[in-house]
Amino acid sequence: MRILSGIQPSGALHLGNYFGMMLPAIELQNQGEALYFIADYHSMTSVFDAAQRRKNTLDVALDFLACGLDPKKAIFWRQSDVPEVTELAWILTTLTPMGLLERCHSYKDKLARGISANHGLFAYPVLMAADILLFDSNIVPVGRDQKQHVEVTRDIAIKFNETYGQTLVIPEPRIREEVAVVPGTDGQKMSKSYGNTIEIFGDEKAVRKKIMGIVMDSRTPAEPKPDADKNLAVQLLKLVAAPEVASDYESRLRAGGLGYGDLKKALFEHYWNYFSAARARRAELAGNLDYVHQTLKEGAARAKAIGHTVLSRTKTASGL
Ligand code: ADP
Ligand code: TRP
Repeated sequence: MRILSGIQPSGALHLGNYFGMMLPAIELQNQGEALYFIADYHSMTSVFDAAQRRKNTLDVALDFLACGLDPKKAIFWRQSDVPEVTELAWILTTLTPMGLLERCHSYKDKLARGISANHGLFAYPVLMAADILLFDSNIVPVGRDQKQHVEVTRDIAIKFNETYGQTLVIPEPRIREEVAVVPGTDGQKMSKSYGNTIEIFGDEKAVRKKIMGIVMDSRTPAEPKPDADKNLAVQLLKLVAAPEVASDYESRLRAGGLGYGDLKKALFEHYWNYFSAARARRAELAGNLDYVHQTLKEGAARAKAIGHTVLSRTKTASGL
């Protein structure tokens, strides 16, 4: 079984990225051949500063390795180090109906938010299809917002196989329902583009301020809160605290007597402890960048070997 996922270097990674994609990906590295990459070509649709891209790319590498991606188990590389993917993207784009891309929510959402679209943003799902199909991937662990893109990938692969004969492996998205959409500090989906994130490796003071600033309702601490399970801090606490600890806070909130300030304090403490070992590993890695660069380089060589075979097969099938 081959497992593949990617993450864009478009800003600091947050709890949504971690619980929605990185943790499932890290756990899956024990269950098959895992391939994870930093999607720097994808980031070109929204980041237009070269130094920023370089910095973000290194940050994602540090974050992912610190969180437990193990290069002995998983192949880990930077997308642009295996440019074969862009060649496959061209081949696939010729089989992609315009309507399929026009229906993509993530594209439509960006337009709705007033982002002026370039062709890359529109064609993004085709590059993502190439990312997945270039490595004969079976399973793609992602958050729910990426499900449609994996479905587009399946449609394109099926179209290729119908047109040129059985060539490409049809992948499947793997979404963990309990963390499919991690809420941000405003209750909407946590996302870099909504300014509502809690970063995995945020500065202590800044994150404490963000968490203490989560807006709650005006009920007094003494009042019972029958909707305690819907409370944002409770929902986030469930991610970073032991189940019995989180459910104890939830019951105390439900019964009345627990103030929102104390609840948010507890959330911050548990968040901070949850990532303490990873934080130490990240500091260590940051002091050993040669290791990080070397890891990405070796990963790229391994990814290239697989990608090259699949690309050749695809070219032969299509008469190139
Ligand atoms: P963002 O929305 O912050 O730009 P990305 O689109 O870069 O995040 O997402 C990277 C990965 O993290 C994807 O697999 C995505 O589904 C997942 N992800 C992002 N935000 C969340 C969230 N709030 N809940 C669950 N998964 C998420
Ligand atoms: N589109 C994904 C995101 O924004 C990142 C990504 C690019 C990806 N290529 C991929 C994810 C291939 C899984 C598989 O989060």
